[in-house]
Amino acid sequence: MRDALGDVQSVLVLGGRSELALATVQALVARRTRRVVLAVRDVDAAATDVEQLRERGATVDAVEFDALDTRRHGAFVKRVWGEHGDFDLVLVAFGVLGDQERALHDAAHALEVVRANFTGAVSVLVPIAARMREQGHGTIAVLSSIAALRPRRANFVYGSSKAGLDAFANGLADELAGSGVHVMVVRPGFVHTRMTEGMDAAPFSTTPDVVAAQIVAGIAAQRTVVWAPPILRFVAPVLQLLPRAVWRRMPR
Ligand SMILES: NC(=O)c1ccc[n+]([C@@H]2O[C@H](COP(=O)([O-])OP(=O)(O)OC[C@H]3O[C@@H](n4cnc5c(N)ncnc54)[C@H](OP(=O)(O)O)[C@@H]3O)[C@@H](O)[C@H]2O)c1
Repeated sequence: MRDALGDVQSVLVLGGRSELALATVQALVARRTRRVVLAVRDVDAAATDVEQLRERGATVDAVEFDALDTRRHGAFVKRVWGEHGDFDLVLVAFGVLGDQERALHDAAHALEVVRANFTGAVSVLVPIAARMREQGHGTIAVLSSIAALRPRRANFVYGSSKAGLDAFANGLADELAGSGVHVMVVRPGFVHTRMTEGMDAAPFSTTPDVVAAQIVAGIAAQRTVVWAPPILRFVAPVLQLLPRAVWRRMPR
């Protein structure tokens, strides 16, 4: 349960090695979060992240989770709740950018992006939503993207997967309204992380710490949508209104 000051005490992170997620968890632990479960593909690779969070005063465990392994998601959720109890916050952070050029010729690669970002998220969010509804409280924060609003030619495979995720999370927010469970969709722009390493920064590019601060504030205020940086809230509608001919010429 949240404490008397409204801060979350327990967090489950899916995609627990994500730079955006770790910046968010660090910000939460600096407040009053005390119990963290990082769900990751490679538990050994997460050892340093686990140690760093422990040094900051949290109880931290890493558990195995693969978004692509959808047949095991039901059992995964049952086991995590059984072993670690209720969660005040579930942060859905896993995702892959993929290689758009490759995806244009390799359907298996395009499908892997969609399966990781969209169907994998739906697969694990269904049992998580049921658990959260049962416990009657908590926040599910889903990392969508500004790319979900109007996928660009340069990365429309990724954009379409995020559009599906964004729509699903928004529907879930409406479905869970009144249940005590709050669903928040986070739409970052370009953030300097492992995912964007080596790419030219887009306008309004930002850092994981800025996104983390927006997420933490959004949880406290029970927002349904969070833009990071906040100015994107005003930029996105303008991008959506650009004529198709102009949109097609957006840089790759
Ligand atoms: N960076 C940006 O500009 C940006 C902008 C908008 C939205 N986002 C979204 O924000 C989220 C976090 O991204 P980030 O910038 O923090 O990138 P990141 O550091 O690369 O994190 C992505 C995480 O997803 C995990 N992952 C990938 N495939 C997975 C799978 N099949 N099962 C489980 N985990 C998997 C990766 O695990 P490993 O550690 O095992 O590789 C990695 O920890 C993503 O959903 C991304 O789409 C990012």
